[in-house]
Amino acid sequence: MTPRACIIDCDPGTDDAVALWLALGSPELDIRLVTVAGGNAGLATTTANARAIVALAGRAVPVVAGAAGALLRPFEVAAHVHGKDGLAGVRLPDGPPLAPGLAADAIRDVLRAAPYASVTLVGLGPVTNLALALAAEPALADRVAEIVLMSGAWGEGNITPAAEFNAWNDPEALQILLGLGRPLTMATLDLTSQACVTPGRIAGLAAQGRPGPAAPRGGACWQAALAILRALPPSPRMGDRGYPLHDPCAIAWLVAPLLFAAREGFAEMELAPGPSRGRTVIDRWGRTGRAPNLRLLETLDAEGFFALLAARIAALP
Ligand code: BDR
Ligand code: CA
Repeated sequence: MTPRACIIDCDPGTDDAVALWLALGSPELDIRLVTVAGGNAGLATTTANARAIVALAGRAVPVVAGAAGALLRPFEVAAHVHGKDGLAGVRLPDGPPLAPGLAADAIRDVLRAAPYASVTLVGLGPVTNLALALAAEPALADRVAEIVLMSGAWGEGNITPAAEFNAWNDPEALQILLGLGRPLTMATLDLTSQACVTPGRIAGLAAQGRPGPAAPRGGACWQAALAILRALPPSPRMGDRGYPLHDPCAIAWLVAPLLFAAREGFAEMELAPGPSRGRTVIDRWGRTGRAPNLRLLETLDAEGFFALLAARIAALP
């Protein structure tokens, strides 16, 4: 099997860190580039985190910095979830320096060198970098195989009653991606709410790291992932069901699609100022009569998802 070429755009971010480790530990994926935006924390913090996360996995994937703010306004950070340092206080060794250049240029460079429909773009934060790259050179969209995003919600939001954090942080950028006409898959809050971290699931990850009859498993990434999962605050939205591990769901779709059930739908962004700004208005039932512009991940085999996560992260350095 040829690994799928991917660019991951992210804003690490605790769940971005776990998602990056899942991706870097999955032989099904060939991670060509990691690009970074502000979001969960300021850009200086998210880029330092991305460098450290990639380096901890023992990989030399280039990490390139991008947007410090959304297309039309500054980002708002999520220190209430991820802490000021973006990693809930879990310290990682510094990674190597950033690769030179700007995220949008680096994304276009990879696409330009790639054959038709061959690169998967993964967005785990506000999608400013991806939108800037493709808005500047729309002809490169035909190199994109699929866009896979953790973004949006058809139900309740998590940053406002109407909006999910990534979509709300740069709704114009997300609208650009929705209008590209390339296959787009979305792991919304409604999906990621099925990927709740519980004490039992943390214990499952911890058990993967014990020395077994074969090679001992569980290195620095596994230890850091465990520390992050243990440090995250409860989610009032989820009550006693745990808290959702959002971004790894988008990676799991690429690695193990049989864990998911999906449906086609049509989405457009609410861009007007006011309480609904940033909402992904999602038609799952053909009510608008509009042709589908995305695949919505609807259900997740959560036990399978956490087993995949544990196995892949425990096998990393
Ligand atoms: C999304 O927002 C961020 O805080 C997380 O990293 C995730 O990408 C969930 O709404
Ligand atoms: Ca994120």
